[in-house]
Amino acid sequence: MNAIDIRPMTRADLPAVLELERGGFSHPWTEAMFVAELDNPQARVDLLHLDGWLAAYLCSWFLCGELHVLNVATAPAFRRRGLARRLLAEAMDRCRPLGLERVLLEVRVSNAAAIALYESHGFRRDGVRKRYYPDGEDALLMTLIIPEVPPGN
Ligand SMILES: CC(C)(COP(=O)(O)OP(=O)(O)OC[C@H]1O[C@@H](n2cnc3c(N)ncnc32)[C@H](O)[C@@H]1OP(=O)(O)O)[C@@H](O)C(=O)NCCC(=O)NCCS
Repeated sequence: MNAIDIRPMTRADLPAVLELERGGFSHPWTEAMFVAELDNPQARVDLLHLDGWLAAYLCSWFLCGELHVLNVATAPAFRRRGLARRLLAEAMDRCRPLGLERVLLEVRVSNAAAIALYESHGFRRDGVRKRYYPDGEDALLMTLIIPEVPPGN
């Protein structure tokens, strides 16, 4: 049985998070991007440790009933074990009691693995933002509407 621990990132985690990011992502976030998120009161970066190893993280903002997923990444050695799915589910569970209505994100149109992850979660393709990324690639806008729970349930 693997021990999974999910907790918010602090500045002390920066070196480990940057190592994960550089090792597994063709367009890695920079140190300045993580620092900006750590300094942003709306933002939260969740780290998932598996048996003590930093295996995955998810960065999100929760604003006005909407959870914006800014980034999610799993270290290559830990992929296809349900860790990104687990982080997404945990972020949504945390926001549900706070009035979560929808989850929004942008993803590179070429990122088939991430698009498959979001579609497996029930996200729908909502449109394309042309030349959204600095290198000119388009972004796919994806949304998950949270169903209303009838009173008494
Ligand atoms: C996308 C990414 C975060 C997925 O992380 P992961 O922990 O391996 O994903 P999970 O194991 O939780 O996958 C859940 C589901 O997503 C889908 N999926 C994930 N990776 C996939 C792949 N490479 N190909 C096809 N489907 C994939 C599958 O439906 C999978 O369920 P299954 O394994 O039961 O078939 C990971 O590949 C990654 O870090 N990529 C680089 C960073 C990145 O592109 N992030 C997205 C930014 S928007």
